Amino acid sequence: MDLFETMIQHTSVRDFTQQDVPQELKEQLVSAAQSVSSSNFLQAYSIIEIRDPKKLQAIESFSRNPGFISQAGVFYIFVADLQRHARILQAQQKDISHLKTMEPLLVSIIDTTLAAQGMATFAESQGLGICFIGGVRNQIFEVSELLELPPLTVPLFGLAIGYPRNKNQVKQRLPKTIAAPIDRYHFDGMDIKEYDLTMENYYTQRISNQQQTSWSQKVIDFFATAKRPQLNEFLKHQGFTEIK
Ligand SMILES: Cc1cc2nc3c(=O)[nH]c(=O)nc-3n(C[C@H](O)[C@H](O)[C@H](O)COP(=O)(O)O)c2cc1C
Repeated sequence: MDLFETMIQHTSVRDFTQQDVPQELKEQLVSAAQSVSSSNFLQAYSIIEIRDPKKLQAIESFSRNPGFISQAGVFYIFVADLQRHARILQAQQKDISHLKTMEPLLVSIIDTTLAAQGMATFAESQGLGICFIGGVRNQIFEVSELLELPPLTVPLFGLAIGYPRNKNQVKQRLPKTIAAPIDRYHFDGMDIKEYDLTMENYYTQRISNQQQTSWSQKVIDFFATAKRPQLNEFLKHQGFTEIK
């Protein structure tokens, strides 16, 4: 399959065979992640491979994604990381207050996310399946403690990678007229109606976890409650004290 075909056939995999991912391939996965672009070449991330079965189980339970994290061939946690930069500055007795503001945090989140998608794309090109696990932020203090994360680091998400046993059907994305307008922002609420019908069909007819819902309804349900309210406190705790 060529790369484009692989990319548009992407679906998150939540059912893996128990086959390990060979060490050589794991090294390539990390190289793929590290080879993406990086803002000002800050390389502001750490990619922590979780091997300890007890830690995998703890993460599985914190993230409320039972079963498939410890079943995956390999599991990484992607951490936005400005700790290394702080140490370099501190070694030269420089002020680190600029590291504690929103822009560096955003830069590290962007760097980390791009690296993760680099790994995911390469993984899928090799016939592996992937699933991002934002659930690691459900109990972000506990996850950080488990990984012994220092100040100025934030665990963003996990990435479960392995050989797929089952794959879901591909979910159709938003129409390009909505997701990728030309020359200016454009969104007319009416544009979404047709897409909602398509997704309604998908959710009612898919093989597993069928639901009577639409894309808009999912959005409404998602924003009905504040998500992960401990995040602000966590960022302060990690030293991002200059975020207002
Ligand atoms: C940052 C991020 C976090 C995610 N966290 C989870 C998660 O905790 N559990 C899960 O089952 N899927 C998770 N997903 C997968 C999404 O649910 C999935 O990508 C989305 O529903 C689209 O489906 P598809 O990837 O199969 O096309 C996450 C995806 C992203 C990008």
